Amino acid sequence: MSPIATGISPTSAGTANLNGGEQVVDLAVAGQNDGPARADVPVLDLFSLAGKAVIITGGARGLGLCIGTALLEAKCSHVYCCDVLAEPNADEWTRAKQTAKKFGGEISYTQLDITNVDMVNEVFERIYEESTYEVSGVLAAAGIQQMIASIDYPAADFRRVMDVNVAGTFFTIQAAARQMKKRKINNASIVIVASMSGSIANKAAEWGQYGIRVNTLSPGYIRTAMTDMLLAERPDLEEEWLRGSMLNRLSTPDEFRGPVLYLLSNASSFTTGADLLVDGGHTAY
Ligand SMILES: NC(=O)c1ccc[n+]([C@@H]2O[C@H](COP(=O)([O-])OP(=O)(O)OC[C@H]3O[C@@H](n4cnc5c(N)ncnc54)[C@H](O)[C@@H]3O)[C@@H](O)[C@H]2O)c1
Repeated sequence: MSPIATGISPTSAGTANLNGGEQVVDLAVAGQNDGPARADVPVLDLFSLAGKAVIITGGARGLGLCIGTALLEAKCSHVYCCDVLAEPNADEWTRAKQTAKKFGGEISYTQLDITNVDMVNEVFERIYEESTYEVSGVLAAAGIQQMIASIDYPAADFRRVMDVNVAGTFFTIQAAARQMKKRKINNASIVIVASMSGSIANKAAEWGQYGIRVNTLSPGYIRTAMTDMLLAERPDLEEEWLRGSMLNRLSTPDEFRGPVLYLLSNASSFTTGADLLVDGGHTAY
């Protein structure tokens, strides 16, 4: 039972009696939690990923690689990018490599199809085994989209979207949680890129007991290859999208660096089960 229950009467520091007489200990108050002494850490250092490694799916380009580059700036020691593409986007990768060099981190690339559950588990096992640094973070940013009227949606296409965006994302976070649990990773954090168009339920309640936080990021419209393709097909959409934005503009991938760094770092040590909506006010209209 959680210490945060009705009818708690505090006794001594860090302990409380529940209504039924059961005594619980708030480990944080009692100073016995396994985490670092966070209160002593200067606030900006909470955002540092020094000595940590992060895996990013969908890391070949766009949002995933942009955030990977930002994590290097936050001193992340190794960013492992995984993506179904044979190679990452050349320009974005060059920029990421330069950032790694500048900030003393590493970035590497592995081809991985997240719909292949065996491959996901093998790649994650290898990364966790090989990494010199604790792989404390996983960002699931791989995804696909199609613009087809629901009424005409071919079953095979719908299945493909579900396979990548739902099953593939689940296999990713499952493989991550297995490694984090097995290796007792400290302050582990999983971030799922969802969307303002429909946030997915997460496993925060189930995995909190292993010290794994699980949160989703729900972005609004971002200018990436994904939306460029859509707008090339339907230029009229841009005006419609702009009308839905309180800021009267679409976003760019760099605008998600801060929100994801927050979720992956110790700055969000008590944030779990949350959906961080970063959509320029779109859904609040
Ligand atoms: N662009 C937007 O407006 C927007 C809005 C909300 C959410 N998102 C989400 O953000 C994430 C990143 O999107 P983006 O805009 O950078 O698009 P993007 O197409 O540039 O990036 C998605 C990446 O996922 C990879 N991918 C696709 N299928 C995969 C698979 N089976 N296994 C591994 N990798 C696979 C792609 O190769 C690509 O590199 C996606 O999950 C997308 O749904 C995007």
